[in-house]
Order: sequence, then structure tokens, then C-alpha cells
Amino acid sequence: MSMTHDPPKAAVPALDFGAAWTYAPAPEATDHVKIKPRHELFIDGSWQAPRSGRYFDSISPSSEAKLTEVAEASEADVDAAVSAARRAYEQVWSRMKPLERGKYIYRIARRIQEKARELAVAESLDGGKPIKESRDVDIPLAAAHFFYYAGWADKLDHAFPGSNPRPLGVAGQVIPWNFPLLMAAWKIAPALACGNTVVLKPAETTPLTALMLAEIFREVDLPPGVVNIITGAGATGAALVRHPGVDKVAFTGSTAVGKQIQKSLAGSRKKLTLELGGKAANIVFADAPIDQAIEGIIGGIFFNQGHVCCAGSRLLVEESVHDLVVRKLKDRMATLRLGDPLDKNTDVGAINSRMQLEKIRELVAAGEQEGAERFSAPCPLPPRGFWFPPTIFTNVSLSHRIAREEIFGPVLSILTFRTPEEALEKANNTFYGLSAGIWTDKGAKLFWMANRLRAGVVWGNTYNKFDPTSPFGGYKESGFGREGGKAGLLPYLEVNG
Ligand code: NAI
Ligand code: MG
Repeated sequence: MSMTHDPPKAAVPALDFGAAWTYAPAPEATDHVKIKPRHELFIDGSWQAPRSGRYFDSISPSSEAKLTEVAEASEADVDAAVSAARRAYEQVWSRMKPLERGKYIYRIARRIQEKARELAVAESLDGGKPIKESRDVDIPLAAAHFFYYAGWADKLDHAFPGSNPRPLGVAGQVIPWNFPLLMAAWKIAPALACGNTVVLKPAETTPLTALMLAEIFREVDLPPGVVNIITGAGATGAALVRHPGVDKVAFTGSTAVGKQIQKSLAGSRKKLTLELGGKAANIVFADAPIDQAIEGIIGGIFFNQGHVCCAGSRLLVEESVHDLVVRKLKDRMATLRLGDPLDKNTDVGAINSRMQLEKIRELVAAGEQEGAERFSAPCPLPPRGFWFPPTIFTNVSLSHRIAREEIFGPVLSILTFRTPEEALEKANNTFYGLSAGIWTDKGAKLFWMANRLRAGVVWGNTYNKFDPTSPFGGYKESGFGREGGKAGLLPYLEVNG
């Protein structure tokens, strides 16, 4: 069936959804969540005070209220964590039967499911993302990753037959703040399944759920030192990745820090995987199911406040449907609810930190200055906390900063194209190459595009869908190495060529 949409003949007034769309607040309860006022470092299976004696606050970006204070790991703490991981690797984990290792990983997965509500609330409090996202996406996917990799633990010889797969040793892992527990799961689950031990550093603005995961490791009797969780900012991360006792470094975060890490590891024997930024193109053809595409575009950039490395932050629309798509987008944006991340009706939560908010503001100002036309959703912003309204830019040209730089916020730049070739050229015209989306009624066109897009993940008539069996990773400056799926085992293994 072919679906064509004529552009509207006359300007259609914006719809006024008014009271029909007002919901009563439906906040998720918090009384079942126990957040300790202070968190130590999780080293060698126990909570240890930092040798530095220093602590820093993690706040809730939606209220700016202090949630807890966490330890700042110094070089000596990093050293203690790496030593514990080394001992656990040599004495326990690498000697354990793979089947037994798998059982521990299954237990972790089940415990995450049991504590799912608590973890979801903590994630939304600490990072600002809507409970809809943490409850329905982050936490279930984190459990799914542990389940999935638990299954591989005793089947590595079948995954890579005849190659004698062997663990690497101690993995040093540094993760960002946009999917705190999920990124911890992406990093820890395959590392453990392959027989490695781990030192993980969560982001300084969102350490809470990784620390709750440490508590889960205790509850399931994971042998001491197999996973160590140390908190701190960039200096702690840098000390971890350059520690000589680390055999493998896995990093997700900004391109700038990724490049710095790559330089600092040059000439060392350490293996490295990097998952960096993106500037994904969401490409809408005139024959696409437009209403479905609108939902995909909205979800791909505005849910999670655009704090997604594969966010569809550039919209490429076929010229003949440009006006229709923009009108429908504006109508839908008018119904988005921004506010309390714990409210089950909330679509758009808080920006993760003041620093991130400033970065978004700076790039949006650049967009206006360069002549693009701005439209922001008319939603009121709460008085406290860090907020930015869902925003689109039309009249964007490829040379504008908003079309080239990763904004990592709820900001969409709209460009047009006339032919599939032009769409392809514009989509690939970026330093990044993490993901892309294609919306069309024609399967042949979808596959033609997908085969030519220089992006690690390409979604067809959907966007931002994840599954532990499916590998994820980038081209060009988006990084290298894959996470998820069978391919996600390889960065944690030595295999005979
Ligand atoms: P960042 O790259 O500074 O932070 C990510 C992680 O790396 C954090 O745990 C941080 O403590 C750690 N880190 C910082 N400096 C380090 C160093 N020298 N060595 C080792 N670890 C270090 O990212 P930031 O400043 O939070 O965000 C800046 C921009 O990066 C965002 O605006 C966004 O564009 C991009 N970003 C991309 C992410 C992705 O998933 N690809 C995630 C987060 C941010
Ligand atoms: Mg926080």
C-alpha cells in the first residue's frame, strides 16, 4: 500500500488541546526507596571509605536537592580497586567453571528485576529522566543484558568455534550519565561472562544506581573483588584507565575524552573500546506513514531530554512533505508534558546538570544567530532544577553548528532533501556515525539506504529500539568496538585468529 500525503492547501491553525489533555499528577511513590545519606567505595566486596577522605554530592537535577554524598576515589583508591580485581581474577573468577560464573550473572539479573521499582525511582531522581523511561526501558534492559550474557558464559567455545577464547584480565570501565544503570550493565555483563573482573566508574552526576548495583553484588554473594565500583569525576576516570594493572579499557562518553584516552593508551598493551557521540539523521520520505514517523521523531529526540548518543537530532524530510511534517511535529510538541521525572505522565524530564543545560543553551543561541528558525514547545518550566523545552529548528543548513555538533539535549534540526541520493549524502555528511533512522513505505528504498548509510545502527520505521541480542556501536568519530549481541563478547576476549 502506498501512502501519500499532500501538503496542506492552506495554513492550518495550531490545535489547542487545552484542558482535554490535562492530567492529574500521578507521582511514583518514593517511600520504598532507601537512599543512604553517604556512599563509600565498593572495593573487594565491601564498602570502604576513600583514602582521600573526600566526598561530593549527587543532586536531583529536577529539584537541585542533595540526594546523597559519594566518595571521591583518589589514585590510591583506584590502585586498591584494581588490585582487588586482579586478585579476584587470578584466584577465583578465571578459575571458576564458566557454568558457575553464568549462575552468578543470572542471579544479578533476577535481583535487578526484583528491585526494579526501587532502581527506576533512584534513576529518575538522580539523573532527571522520566519514570516512564527508567521503569520501562532502562531497568528492564539492564536486567535483560545480564540475562543475555549469563547465557553466553558457558558457550564461548560455541560463539567462536576453534578459537580458544580466553579472558583478558581486569577491565577498567568508565560510563556516562545518560543511561547510568544500563551502561553499567552493558559494560559489566559481557566482561563477567567472558571471565574478566571489573573496576567500574559511574558518572559523577549519576552514581546512585551503580552503587545500588554494588549492593546487589553483595546480596547475590558475588565473590569479593570480581566487580568494584569506584566513584569520582574525570581525574578518577583518568587514573583508572592509565593504571598499569588494567588490561582492557571500555569508555562511553564525549568524543573529546575518548580521544584523550586513546592518546594516553597509545603504545600500551591495553585493549580499548570507545563509544562516543553521534549526530544521527532520521530520514523521512514522502511515502512514509507520517503519523507513525512523527511519534518516532518525537521519541527519538525529546524523550530522555535528547540525552541519548544515538538521538535522532537531525531530521531529513523529503521536501514535498516538509510543511506537513513540521506542522504535525508542532502539534505533537504542544501535547508533551515536561516536569517532575517521577510523574508517570511526564514525557520530558530534567536536563542532567547545570553544565549540560548551559551547553544546550549555548548551541541553541548559535542556531538562532546563524539564522535558523526556532520553535519551542509552549510548556511551562518548573521554577527549580535544570530544564529546557523541546525545540525544533527549521531553515537549517548543513553548515550550521546545530546541524553538525552534538547538542545532547531536546533540540531537533530539520533539513530537507529531494532524492534518496541527496538524503544519503546529507545523512553521511557528519564526523559521527552511530545511528540513523529511515521512514518509508518501500522496503527496497529502506534497504538501499540502510546499506549505504555510514552508521552502526539503522532503524527502519522505528527509532531507539534496543535489544541485548543486537550489537551497537559506531563508525568514524562515534568510536569503535561493539556492545551487545555476540559481537559484544569479542572486546572482552583473546581469540586465536
Ligand atoms: P565526559 O566524557 O566528560 O564524561 C563521561 C565519563 O567520563 C564520566 O564518567 C566522566 O567522569 C569520565 N571522564 C571525564 N574525563 C575523563 C578522563 N580524562 N579520563 C577518563 N574518564 C573521564 O562527558 P560529559 O562532560 O559528561 O558530557 C559532555 C558531552 O559529551 C555531552 O554534552 C555529550 O555531547 C557527550 N556525551 C556523550 C555520551 C555518549 O553516550 N556517547 C554520554 C555523555 C556525554
Ligand atoms: Mg545526580
